[in-house]
Amino acid sequence: MPDIDVPLVGGRFGRTSRRDLWWVQPLVVLLVLSGFVIYATWAAFQGNHYRFGPYLSPFYSPELWGNPLTAWIGGRPGWYPSWLIFSPALFILPFPAGFRLTCYYYRGAYYKAFWADPPSCAVGEPPRSYRGERSFPLILQNVHRYFLYIALLFIADLAYDAWNGFWFDGHFGMGVGSVVLLVNVILLGGYTLGCHALRHRVGGVLDRLAGARLRKRTYDCVSCLTGQHMTWAWCSLLWVAFTDLYVRLCSMGVWHDWRIF
Ligand code: FES
Repeated sequence: MPDIDVPLVGGRFGRTSRRDLWWVQPLVVLLVLSGFVIYATWAAFQGNHYRFGPYLSPFYSPELWGNPLTAWIGGRPGWYPSWLIFSPALFILPFPAGFRLTCYYYRGAYYKAFWADPPSCAVGEPPRSYRGERSFPLILQNVHRYFLYIALLFIADLAYDAWNGFWFDGHFGMGVGSVVLLVNVILLGGYTLGCHALRHRVGGVLDRLAGARLRKRTYDCVSCLTGQHMTWAWCSLLWVAFTDLYVRLCSMGVWHDWRIF
């Protein structure tokens, strides 16, 4: 890898000696993440068009409450305030959202993109004191390891949905939507199983991996995915939104789901 000598320049916000387009990456992160949050929030509050044939939108899975015919528990729960908009996705999305929000990779990306703190490496920061992630409120990011366990359950659930996406009225088949759901769980699985917290849990916690063969293997497998964590993060983010859009537009009759066999 070539080395680039970038002299540090202290002082004013945004001041730097860098000659490259360092601002492009944070700007792209800002636009893509903002776009995703706007779309996901809009889709979550719709409360309809999340199922088409055997396909279920990942934003609404598992459907605990919702359509009484398809939800695991039942229709709108009695304890839910009548003045609040009801949508099954509102019970689901806080968990994957919490997992992404506290992800080690995304933290680095959105600290730069949204807070410009710092805007990029070797670029002047805003004039305020950064107290790090050891003090409130950023210390709460440590909850990531617990979100991980929930995220693993979601992967199992989405794999079940992907399997169901291949069954049409009791017959095995394949539509474009089946492939969309399958790719979705593969990408989300690659992202989740490459989590740094999982890598720590399966082997990184040990001082010596030599002698713990199974853990060493597991650690190496997770490390393979961790090395490309950023790629998995973006691909899975965009695809999960596309999967919801696909199911939604098919359900609305805007798109036609092509049956491959
Ligand atoms: S570090 Fe990114 S998902 Fe855990």
